[in-house]
Amino acid sequence: MSKQFDILVIGAGPGGYIAAIRAAQLGFSVACCEFNGYDDPAGEPRLGGTCLNAGCIPLKALVASSELFEKASHHLKDHGITFGGVNIDVAKMQQRKEAIVTKMTAGVQFLFRKNKVTLLKGRGSFAGKTDAGYRIIISGKEGDEELLAQKVIIATGSKARQIPNIEVDNVTICDNEGALKFTEAPKKLGVIGAGVIGLEVGSVWRRLGAKVTVLEVMTSFLGAADESVSREASKLFLKQGLHIKLGVKIGQAKLTESGVSIAYTDDQGSEHTLECDKLIVSVGRTPNTEKLNLQAIGLQTDERGFIPVNDHCATAAPGVYAIGDVVRGPMLAHKAEDEGVMVAELIAGQKPHLDYNCMPWVIYTTPEIAWVGKTEQQLRSEGHDYKTGQFPFAANGRALGLGDAEGFIKMLADAQTDEILGVHIIGANASDLIAEAALAMEFRASSEDVARTCHPHPSLSEVMREAALAIEKRSLNM
Ligand code: FAD
Ligand code: NAI
Repeated sequence: MSKQFDILVIGAGPGGYIAAIRAAQLGFSVACCEFNGYDDPAGEPRLGGTCLNAGCIPLKALVASSELFEKASHHLKDHGITFGGVNIDVAKMQQRKEAIVTKMTAGVQFLFRKNKVTLLKGRGSFAGKTDAGYRIIISGKEGDEELLAQKVIIATGSKARQIPNIEVDNVTICDNEGALKFTEAPKKLGVIGAGVIGLEVGSVWRRLGAKVTVLEVMTSFLGAADESVSREASKLFLKQGLHIKLGVKIGQAKLTESGVSIAYTDDQGSEHTLECDKLIVSVGRTPNTEKLNLQAIGLQTDERGFIPVNDHCATAAPGVYAIGDVVRGPMLAHKAEDEGVMVAELIAGQKPHLDYNCMPWVIYTTPEIAWVGKTEQQLRSEGHDYKTGQFPFAANGRALGLGDAEGFIKMLADAQTDEILGVHIIGANASDLIAEAALAMEFRASSEDVARTCHPHPSLSEVMREAALAIEKRSLNM
């Protein structure tokens, strides 16, 4: 007789593992299957998905190390701190990153045990449906096992998108997995795609001494961000020495004795070759659906491989849900997590709701970029009547004390009701500061609500209040 569970979650990334834990908290019998060892030395599946193993967490560890290196090399002298030469031991930096990843993935195993989630080691795929539930095959090291689940949550995530003529070997030509594992800083690094990964990973290796050239197909830079933030970012990244070429058409990449050469055509139609030691291809991600055998339960993906779902992440198959990178919407860990919680609570008969407009975005560059809600260009194209308030970090005492006074916070509010419509930050600690704006928007706060809230002094958060005050042209410190 097959094992039976109320809920089976396929994939243990941030979407899947959080869905499994929330469902177990709500009293369901829950199993979660995962097959990917992400180079685990024992060949065991590692939990946490892309986020913990090859994405958010390892990348932010490298961001932190490289920022400290840059500070020590160039900025501590402004504080009167001097010492001998600064060196970077990339192997040690990577060991530190690995230790963080191992701790976090083991933490998810602990959470599964604590919440009585059964971990099934293997790849999940559908075999069909009976009156007793969905038939799922788990293919592991010991062979195949079939089980039955009343409900299924698909959380299989995504993988790096490939482009023609460029074969990723994850040694010289790398996607996100190889790009986080360099054993030394390349002298010359090429990056295809000036998106989130290109900017974050490119900045890591630039801080550590690489000459970085980013080749981007679009003619505009960071189109998803507010236009004033993109302009400011472009200016600051150029000053830092990140070379971003827009409007290029990528040709062939060839391995050479010293690395790789990439042929490309610039926005004027001239042909060029970029020679570098390493190349990172970061041109977006595609959903992992091809081995799920979705047709066994009558499901099909859309033309881009995503599983179609409604606002509540329900697929067309009753009792089957899909969350995270494998469905529409931003590919963000917190989006996957929140969809996981929503689906578990829906299955329990609750009435959860996600407002995707209140989901923050962060880009971990120097300075950080973060936003929530609409951009100014979106409001303009919608014909929305809005007000703008902006305040620079350069006028904030805490930012000056920290030596991190670049950038600003910009707030957009409805011209009549004063409801906050969007908040855009480029500046130190933007990733933390944006949480206040997300909370304000969840509560449908007005800019006056933020302006009247007492903020600690001296703190970077005062810039948020000043941006809110600037909406009525009554900033106090400028
Ligand atoms: P995933 O994390 O991809 O997890 C899916 C899991 O399912 C994987 O472990 C996979 O092995 C498993 N799986 C697939 N198929 C099967 C199957 N058939 N059976 C069993 N298991 C299966 N987002 C942020 O919000 N902030 C960041 O700072 C950030 N940084 C990133 C940096 C990089 C370099 C990358 C690549 C991504 C980053 N992201 C970030 C995006 C974030 O990692 C993803 O949005 C998030 O991991 C998606 O979660 P998920 O659970 O949907 O999928
Ligand atoms: P992306 O979608 O952010 O950027 C890809 C870039 O590549 C785009 O600017 C695109 O125009 C460009 N591009 C596409 N095809 C190209 C081509 N042929 N030649 C040149 N340029 C080309 O995707 P990215 O950076 O790969 O990241 C994938 C996902 O991971 C993102 O969607 C993001 O949500 C997530 N992520 C999130 C992070 C965060 O939240 N801080 C950090 C890193 C990744």
